[in-house]
Amino acid sequence: MPTIPRLDRPSDASSISTTAGTAVRERGIGLLGCGTVGSSVARRLLVSHPELLRAIAVRDPHKPRAVAWDDFESDPFEVVDDPAVRIVIECIGGVGIARELVLRAIARGKDVVTANKDLIATEGPWLAAFAARTGATLRYEAAVGGAIPIVRALSGALANEDVSEVGGVLNGTTNFVLDAMAGGADYGEALAEAQRLGFAESDPRADVDGHDAAHKLAILAGLAFRRPSVSPQLARRGISSLSSDDVAAGAERGWRLKLLAMAQRTASGQIEAGITPAFIPEDHPFAQPRGAENVVRVVGRNCGTLTFSGLGAGGDPTASAVVADVIAALDARTTSLPAYTGADLVSSPLRSRVLVRFRGGSVVTPEPVPLDELEATARVYGVHGDVRSIIPIWSEAA
Ligand SMILES: NC(=O)c1ccc[n+]([C@@H]2O[C@H](COP(=O)([O-])OP(=O)(O)OC[C@H]3O[C@@H](n4cnc5c(N)ncnc54)[C@H](OP(=O)(O)O)[C@@H]3O)[C@@H](O)[C@H]2O)c1
Repeated sequence: MPTIPRLDRPSDASSISTTAGTAVRERGIGLLGCGTVGSSVARRLLVSHPELLRAIAVRDPHKPRAVAWDDFESDPFEVVDDPAVRIVIECIGGVGIARELVLRAIARGKDVVTANKDLIATEGPWLAAFAARTGATLRYEAAVGGAIPIVRALSGALANEDVSEVGGVLNGTTNFVLDAMAGGADYGEALAEAQRLGFAESDPRADVDGHDAAHKLAILAGLAFRRPSVSPQLARRGISSLSSDDVAAGAERGWRLKLLAMAQRTASGQIEAGITPAFIPEDHPFAQPRGAENVVRVVGRNCGTLTFSGLGAGGDPTASAVVADVIAALDARTTSLPAYTGADLVSSPLRSRVLVRFRGGSVVTPEPVPLDELEATARVYGVHGDVRSIIPIWSEAA
């Protein structure tokens, strides 16, 4: 059984000298990245803590930006190493240089705040354990759900809850594309419109193939089930094979299509998890988010059903979560987010009944089908005719 993932590149923590504690007396803040999120963070901090913001590093210091700052740095490592910087905010993204910088900051015992879901969902458990060793802290409220304070809820108010379900609708790009398809566009037209309006990247695969939602679900599931959790392990299906006929087939039954990301404990105690387009009843909370909105639901033995909704992306909503983490670091209100140990969270693919759609009709399977067996199920139903699609139905509709 795998345990906390290890770093295996030359820049591994083993090659970084740790200087935990040297910066503890300082309160300065260094910001790495000043794009969509970073520029909103900078504007907020220049109002709330102008005396503490010491440095901002970007790739191109000469690029015009709507931030009242004269002296952008081009070397983010210098910012991390600055003895006056105790809190390092990482808003660069990805698992390249951002990962190196976070490792370096942790090795130096600094407080790290990041919005980087890619990094936290793949190496977060290990980074949290490393931080616990160096005296650093690691906070990542902004990595899931934008302005929705779900990381703090799961690690704080719900820290002792017996959670049976966590997940929801966590990706704004797919909300936009599926809504445009519900309005009559086909997938290609809907994606092109999302790209034109800035709802989708020029390379949309992280969103439409479900990687972004998988990262967020891995982080949520780790916190909810209190185990190291990483996203590559999760069963995942994207939305790119959906057609307007699929959307219409759902609409006839009062269902909307959403990219659902869900982890739940079964009656036998196993965790089932996955990311998949799914039919949701139109009046269900999971059917409501539009555009950048997210909805996250937590079901627990004691707390019952808690539903959180709000803006899950965008500069200002995401900066709201980043700045809250910075303030927590400044206050040293909590030492850090928990670093869970032990075996990684292992889940089997989410199961649900599915709608099998043929050229001239459709059928709902009588039994739940695991996400990784949809193709095989389509072949079984193929004896009845040409199967056009096979799409999970969220259990509260089936
Ligand atoms: N955008 C959202 O709505 C959102 C929501 C939740 C979480 N996040 C997460 O927030 C993070 C940042 O996303 P974003 O949308 O703000 O990205 P972005 O707009 O692309 O900004 C990235 C910033 O990083 C800087 N940068 C890139 N390479 C660098 C380097 N080698 N050295 C120094 N600076 C470098 C860029 O500098 P230049 O400006 O000079 O190019 C830019 O300022 C990502 O982890 C993302 O997943 C974003």
